[in-house]
Amino acid sequence: MSAVIQEKLKSSEISPFIGSQVHLSKDELLSGEHASDLRDLLEQRGVLVFPKINFTDEEQIQFTETLGNLAPEMAGEPTYKVTLDTKANSRADYLKGSMYWHLDGTMNEVPILASILSGKVLAPTGGNTEFCNTYAAWEQLSDEDKEQFETMKVMHSAWTSLFYYDPEPSLAKTKEMMSIGERVLPLVWKHRSGRKSLVIGCTAHHVEGLSARDSTQLLVRLREWATQPQFVYSHKWSVGDCVIWDNTGTMHRATPYDPNSGRLMIRTKLQGEEPFA
Ligand code: OGA
Ligand code: MN
Repeated sequence: MSAVIQEKLKSSEISPFIGSQVHLSKDELLSGEHASDLRDLLEQRGVLVFPKINFTDEEQIQFTETLGNLAPEMAGEPTYKVTLDTKANSRADYLKGSMYWHLDGTMNEVPILASILSGKVLAPTGGNTEFCNTYAAWEQLSDEDKEQFETMKVMHSAWTSLFYYDPEPSLAKTKEMMSIGERVLPLVWKHRSGRKSLVIGCTAHHVEGLSARDSTQLLVRLREWATQPQFVYSHKWSVGDCVIWDNTGTMHRATPYDPNSGRLMIRTKLQGEEPFA
Protein backbone atom coordinates (compact mmCIF):
# COMPACT_ATOMS: atom_id res chain seq x y z
CA MET A 1 0.00 0.00 0.00
CA SER A 2 1.56 3.26 -1.09
CA ALA A 3 2.06 6.13 1.32
CA VAL A 4 -0.01 8.32 -1.01
CA ILE A 5 -3.06 6.08 -0.71
CA GLN A 6 -2.64 5.77 3.05
CA GLU A 7 -2.55 9.55 3.22
CA LYS A 8 -5.62 9.87 0.97
CA LEU A 9 -7.52 7.47 3.23
CA LYS A 10 -6.24 9.25 6.34
CA SER A 11 -5.22 5.84 7.59
CA SER A 12 -2.61 4.65 10.04
CA GLU A 13 -1.35 1.12 10.68
CA ILE A 14 -2.30 -0.45 14.00
CA SER A 15 0.47 -3.06 13.98
CA PRO A 16 2.91 -4.26 11.31
CA PHE A 17 0.97 -7.35 10.17
CA ILE A 18 -2.67 -6.44 10.76
CA GLY A 19 -5.12 -3.59 11.10
CA SER A 20 -5.44 0.03 10.01
CA GLN A 21 -7.48 2.86 11.43
CA VAL A 22 -9.25 5.03 8.87
CA HIS A 23 -10.12 8.60 9.80
CA LEU A 24 -12.27 9.60 6.83
CA SER A 25 -15.52 11.35 7.74
CA LYS A 26 -18.91 9.65 7.47
CA ASP A 27 -19.73 11.72 4.38
CA GLU A 28 -16.46 10.76 2.74
CA LEU A 29 -17.15 7.08 3.44
CA LEU A 30 -20.75 7.20 2.21
CA SER A 31 -19.83 9.05 -1.00
CA GLY A 32 -18.13 5.90 -2.30
CA GLU A 33 -15.28 7.94 -3.77
CA HIS A 34 -12.68 6.01 -1.74
CA ALA A 35 -14.32 2.60 -2.16
CA SER A 36 -11.72 1.09 -4.44
CA ASP A 37 -8.79 2.29 -2.30
CA LEU A 38 -10.56 1.02 0.82
CA ARG A 39 -10.96 -2.39 -0.81
CA ASP A 40 -7.23 -2.48 -1.55
CA LEU A 41 -6.35 -1.35 1.95
CA LEU A 42 -8.66 -4.01 3.40
CA GLU A 43 -6.94 -6.74 1.41
CA GLN A 44 -3.53 -5.51 2.52
CA ARG A 45 -4.32 -4.92 6.19
CA GLY A 46 -7.03 -7.54 6.94
CA VAL A 47 -9.02 -5.25 9.25
CA LEU A 48 -10.07 -1.61 8.97
CA VAL A 49 -11.38 0.35 11.95
CA PHE A 50 -13.56 3.45 11.60
CA PRO A 51 -13.52 4.82 15.15
CA LYS A 52 -16.81 6.21 16.51
CA ILE A 53 -18.23 6.75 13.02
CA ASN A 54 -21.75 6.16 14.39
CA PHE A 55 -23.42 4.71 11.31
CA THR A 56 -27.18 4.24 11.50
CA ASP A 57 -28.31 0.87 10.09
CA GLU A 58 -29.25 2.59 6.81
CA GLU A 59 -25.85 4.29 6.59
CA GLN A 60 -24.09 0.99 7.28
CA ILE A 61 -26.05 -0.63 4.45
CA GLN A 62 -25.20 2.28 2.17
CA PHE A 63 -21.50 2.10 3.09
CA THR A 64 -21.47 -1.68 2.55
CA GLU A 65 -22.96 -1.22 -0.92
CA THR A 66 -20.21 1.21 -1.92
CA LEU A 67 -17.69 -1.61 -1.42
CA GLY A 68 -19.39 -4.45 -3.31
CA ASN A 69 -22.59 -6.48 -3.28
CA LEU A 70 -24.35 -6.68 0.04
CA ALA A 71 -24.94 -10.31 1.04
CA PRO A 72 -28.33 -10.70 2.73
CA GLU A 73 -28.41 -12.52 6.06
CA MET A 74 -30.15 -15.91 6.40
CA ALA A 75 -33.54 -14.35 7.08
CA GLY A 76 -33.14 -12.31 3.87
CA GLU A 77 -32.56 -9.10 5.82
CA PRO A 78 -29.69 -6.72 4.95
CA THR A 79 -28.58 -6.48 8.60
CA TYR A 80 -28.21 -8.95 11.45
CA LYS A 81 -28.21 -8.45 15.21
CA VAL A 82 -25.09 -10.05 16.67
CA THR A 83 -26.05 -10.73 20.27
CA LEU A 84 -26.19 -13.67 22.66
CA ASP A 85 -29.50 -12.35 24.02
CA THR A 86 -32.19 -14.79 22.79
CA LYS A 87 -34.87 -12.12 23.32
CA ALA A 88 -33.23 -9.93 20.66
CA ASN A 89 -32.18 -12.80 18.35
CA SER A 90 -33.99 -16.11 18.58
CA ARG A 91 -31.06 -17.93 16.93
CA ALA A 92 -28.50 -16.41 19.31
CA ASP A 93 -27.29 -19.85 20.42
CA TYR A 94 -25.66 -20.39 17.06
CA LEU A 95 -23.43 -17.37 17.75
CA LYS A 96 -21.74 -19.09 20.67
CA GLY A 97 -19.31 -20.50 18.12
CA SER A 98 -18.17 -16.92 17.42
CA MET A 99 -16.10 -17.04 20.63
CA TYR A 100 -13.65 -19.39 18.93
CA TRP A 101 -11.33 -18.55 16.02
CA HIS A 102 -13.21 -18.92 12.75
CA LEU A 103 -13.96 -17.69 9.26
CA ASP A 104 -17.54 -16.79 8.34
CA GLY A 105 -19.22 -18.98 5.75
CA THR A 106 -17.00 -22.07 5.53
CA MET A 107 -20.19 -23.98 4.66
CA ASN A 108 -20.69 -21.93 1.48
CA GLU A 109 -19.25 -22.57 -1.96
CA VAL A 110 -18.16 -18.94 -2.08
CA PRO A 111 -17.51 -17.60 1.43
CA ILE A 112 -18.36 -13.99 2.10
CA LEU A 113 -15.73 -11.43 1.18
CA ALA A 114 -16.03 -9.28 4.26
CA SER A 115 -18.11 -8.64 7.36
CA ILE A 116 -18.85 -5.22 8.80
CA LEU A 117 -19.78 -4.74 12.47
CA SER A 118 -20.98 -1.64 14.26
CA GLY A 119 -20.84 -1.49 18.03
CA LYS A 120 -24.22 -0.52 19.50
CA VAL A 121 -24.29 -1.83 23.09
CA LEU A 122 -21.09 -3.00 24.78
CA ALA A 123 -20.47 -5.59 27.45
CA PRO A 124 -19.05 -4.01 30.63
CA THR A 125 -16.17 -6.49 30.51
CA GLY A 126 -14.87 -8.70 27.71
CA GLY A 127 -16.48 -8.72 24.29
CA ASN A 128 -13.49 -7.52 22.26
CA THR A 129 -13.37 -8.76 18.68
CA GLU A 130 -10.02 -10.29 17.79
CA PHE A 131 -8.58 -10.85 14.33
CA CYS A 132 -5.55 -12.69 13.01
CA ASN A 133 -3.94 -12.38 9.60
CA THR A 134 -3.95 -15.78 7.88
CA TYR A 135 -1.99 -14.44 4.89
CA ALA A 136 0.89 -13.33 7.12
CA ALA A 137 0.68 -16.57 9.12
CA TRP A 138 1.04 -18.57 5.91
CA GLU A 139 3.82 -16.43 4.49
CA GLN A 140 5.97 -16.82 7.59
CA LEU A 141 5.88 -20.61 7.74
CA SER A 142 9.10 -22.34 6.71
CA ASP A 143 9.47 -23.47 3.08
CA GLU A 144 9.48 -27.05 4.28
CA ASP A 145 6.14 -26.62 6.09
CA LYS A 146 4.65 -24.77 3.14
CA GLU A 147 5.52 -27.58 0.77
CA GLN A 148 4.02 -30.17 3.10
CA PHE A 149 0.78 -28.26 3.82
CA GLU A 150 0.06 -26.78 0.42
CA THR A 151 -1.91 -29.73 -0.94
CA MET A 152 -3.69 -30.80 2.26
CA LYS A 153 -7.48 -30.86 2.53
CA VAL A 154 -9.57 -30.30 5.62
CA MET A 155 -13.17 -31.27 6.39
CA HIS A 156 -15.16 -28.36 7.86
CA SER A 157 -18.62 -28.38 9.43
CA ALA A 158 -20.82 -26.29 11.70
CA TRP A 159 -21.32 -29.33 13.92
CA THR A 160 -17.58 -29.37 14.70
CA SER A 161 -17.92 -25.93 16.30
CA LEU A 162 -20.97 -27.11 18.31
CA PHE A 163 -18.67 -29.21 20.52
CA TYR A 164 -16.60 -26.11 21.44
CA TYR A 165 -19.50 -24.40 23.20
CA ASP A 166 -21.75 -27.38 24.00
CA PRO A 167 -19.48 -30.38 24.66
CA GLU A 168 -22.35 -32.74 25.56
CA PRO A 169 -25.14 -31.82 23.11
CA SER A 170 -28.35 -33.78 22.75
CA LEU A 171 -28.64 -36.13 19.78
CA ALA A 172 -31.38 -33.89 18.40
CA LYS A 173 -29.05 -30.84 18.52
CA THR A 174 -26.21 -32.85 17.00
CA LYS A 175 -28.42 -33.96 14.11
CA GLU A 176 -29.74 -30.44 13.63
CA MET A 177 -26.20 -29.06 13.31
CA MET A 178 -25.18 -31.97 11.08
CA SER A 179 -28.04 -31.16 8.72
CA ILE A 180 -26.13 -27.97 7.77
CA GLY A 181 -23.61 -30.20 6.01
CA GLU A 182 -19.87 -30.60 5.65
CA ARG A 183 -17.33 -29.30 3.18
CA VAL A 184 -13.83 -30.36 2.26
CA LEU A 185 -11.71 -27.23 1.82
CA PRO A 186 -8.06 -26.70 0.95
CA LEU A 187 -5.87 -26.05 4.00
CA VAL A 188 -4.16 -23.35 1.96
CA TRP A 189 -6.33 -21.02 -0.11
CA LYS A 190 -4.62 -20.02 -3.35
CA HIS A 191 -6.27 -16.71 -4.16
CA ARG A 192 -6.63 -15.30 -7.68
CA SER A 193 -4.33 -12.49 -6.59
CA GLY A 194 -1.55 -15.07 -6.15
CA ARG A 195 -1.50 -14.66 -2.38
CA LYS A 196 -2.12 -17.62 -0.09
CA SER A 197 -3.83 -17.90 3.28
CA LEU A 198 -4.59 -20.61 5.84
CA VAL A 199 -8.15 -21.94 6.13
CA ILE A 200 -8.53 -23.27 9.68
CA GLY A 201 -10.64 -22.44 12.76
CA CYS A 202 -13.33 -24.04 14.91
CA THR A 203 -15.18 -25.51 11.93
CA ALA A 204 -12.10 -27.54 10.91
CA HIS A 205 -12.74 -31.18 11.82
CA HIS A 206 -9.80 -33.13 10.41
CA VAL A 207 -7.09 -33.13 7.80
CA GLU A 208 -7.81 -35.76 5.19
CA GLY A 209 -5.43 -38.69 5.09
CA LEU A 210 -3.82 -38.10 8.51
CA SER A 211 -4.37 -40.14 11.67
CA ALA A 212 -6.71 -38.54 14.23
CA ARG A 213 -3.74 -37.64 16.43
CA ASP A 214 -1.61 -36.14 13.66
CA SER A 215 -4.58 -34.26 12.23
CA THR A 216 -5.55 -32.76 15.60
CA GLN A 217 -1.94 -31.81 16.35
CA LEU A 218 -1.56 -30.10 12.99
CA LEU A 219 -4.80 -28.12 13.30
CA VAL A 220 -3.92 -27.05 16.85
CA ARG A 221 -0.37 -26.19 15.81
CA LEU A 222 -1.58 -24.02 12.92
CA ARG A 223 -4.18 -22.25 15.05
CA GLU A 224 -1.53 -21.57 17.67
CA TRP A 225 0.84 -20.31 14.96
CA ALA A 226 -1.70 -18.09 13.22
CA THR A 227 -2.92 -16.50 16.44
CA GLN A 228 0.47 -15.45 17.81
CA PRO A 229 0.45 -11.85 19.07
CA GLN A 230 2.25 -10.44 16.01
CA PHE A 231 -0.55 -11.66 13.71
CA VAL A 232 -3.40 -10.55 16.01
CA TYR A 233 -5.34 -7.33 16.55
CA SER A 234 -7.80 -7.22 19.45
CA HIS A 235 -10.42 -4.52 19.00
CA LYS A 236 -11.70 -3.00 22.23
CA TRP A 237 -15.01 -1.45 21.23
CA SER A 238 -16.32 2.04 21.79
CA VAL A 239 -19.98 2.65 20.98
CA GLY A 240 -20.27 3.75 17.34
CA ASP A 241 -17.08 2.06 16.11
CA CYS A 242 -17.37 0.29 12.79
CA VAL A 243 -14.95 -2.50 11.88
CA ILE A 244 -14.63 -4.36 8.58
CA TRP A 245 -12.56 -7.48 8.08
CA ASP A 246 -11.40 -9.36 5.01
CA ASN A 247 -13.00 -12.72 5.72
CA THR A 248 -10.81 -14.40 3.09
CA GLY A 249 -7.48 -13.56 4.75
CA THR A 250 -8.27 -13.42 8.46
CA MET A 251 -9.88 -15.39 11.26
CA HIS A 252 -11.79 -13.71 14.05
CA ARG A 253 -13.48 -14.38 17.40
CA ALA A 254 -15.25 -12.53 20.19
CA THR A 255 -13.56 -12.65 23.59
CA PRO A 256 -15.86 -14.01 26.33
CA TYR A 257 -18.62 -11.77 27.64
CA ASP A 258 -21.76 -12.11 29.72
CA PRO A 259 -24.61 -13.28 27.44
CA ASN A 260 -26.97 -11.16 29.55
CA SER A 261 -24.86 -8.01 29.19
CA GLY A 262 -26.99 -6.73 26.33
CA ARG A 263 -23.94 -6.55 24.01
CA LEU A 264 -25.27 -5.80 20.54
CA MET A 265 -23.48 -5.39 17.22
CA ILE A 266 -25.10 -4.76 13.86
CA ARG A 267 -23.59 -6.77 11.02
CA THR A 268 -23.68 -6.43 7.26
CA LYS A 269 -21.78 -8.64 4.85
CA LEU A 270 -20.23 -8.38 1.42
CA GLN A 271 -20.88 -11.17 -1.01
CA GLY A 272 -17.87 -13.36 -1.76
CA GLU A 273 -16.16 -13.02 -5.10
CA GLU A 274 -14.04 -16.17 -5.24
CA PRO A 275 -14.53 -19.76 -4.11
CA PHE A 276 -12.06 -21.57 -1.86
CA ALA A 277 -9.41 -22.94 -4.22
C1 OGA B 1 -19.59 -12.42 13.52
C2 OGA B 1 -18.68 -12.57 14.67
C3 OGA B 1 -17.73 -11.47 16.60
C4 OGA B 1 -18.16 -10.51 17.66
O1 OGA B 1 -20.46 -11.53 13.57
O2 OGA B 1 -19.42 -13.16 12.53
O3 OGA B 1 -17.93 -13.51 14.71
O4 OGA B 1 -17.26 -9.91 18.29
N1 OGA B 1 -18.73 -11.61 15.61
O5 OGA B 1 -19.35 -10.38 17.93
MN1 MN C 1 -17.96 -14.61 12.71
